[in-house]
Amino acid sequence: MEIIWVLISFLSGSIPFAVVIAKTFKGIDPRKEGSKNPGTTNVARLCGFQYGLLTLVCDILKGTVPVFLSIWFFDKTDYEWLPSACAFAAFIGHIKSPFLGFHGGKGVATGIGVLIPLAFPPLLAAVCLCVLVIALTGYVSAGALTLYTALPFCYYFFDSSRWIPLSLVMLAIVLWTHKSNMKRLLKGEEKSWRKSKN
Ligand code: G3P
Repeated sequence: MEIIWVLISFLSGSIPFAVVIAKTFKGIDPRKEGSKNPGTTNVARLCGFQYGLLTLVCDILKGTVPVFLSIWFFDKTDYEWLPSACAFAAFIGHIKSPFLGFHGGKGVATGIGVLIPLAFPPLLAAVCLCVLVIALTGYVSAGALTLYTALPFCYYFFDSSRWIPLSLVMLAIVLWTHKSNMKRLLKGEEKSWRKSKN
């Protein structure tokens, strides 16, 4: 049963809310326009802030719900590994969605979602840093990279070291999904949130 729950977590993470929301409300496929990323930032860029916000909430929840339920339903001592496995499965589901031909988004919002039920205060600290970087630089990708780089340190400082291995794996994957953003940031070509009307 627990393996099935990991699979359900993967499928939950796979739901391509960015594509569904942008296509339903604006007839736009975010995989074909803007940064071509089916994620919050690109939906906000192409469809407007409120649709980006809706995508953000849905992408967070599709990660939070299966991980929360795995903690709620399964015995913590027998299945200590399960929340991490479900968290990782939902995170990967977003990045390699079977509904999008095993392509997908960059994992930022769903990654935040899966981590909410595990240890909230260190995540909140990393999210605050992310918001600060976005506010100061205007680059959402720089904020996302800051968040995932800060996470292992936040887990350490908030006495939640058991989540450090998961956060390091997620950092490696987020660095990989943000390769094109990092190249643009280094060249000074990344689109700022402040003037990102495509
Ligand atoms: O959520 C992903 C964000 O970090 C960058 O998105 O569309 O600017 O590549 P985008």
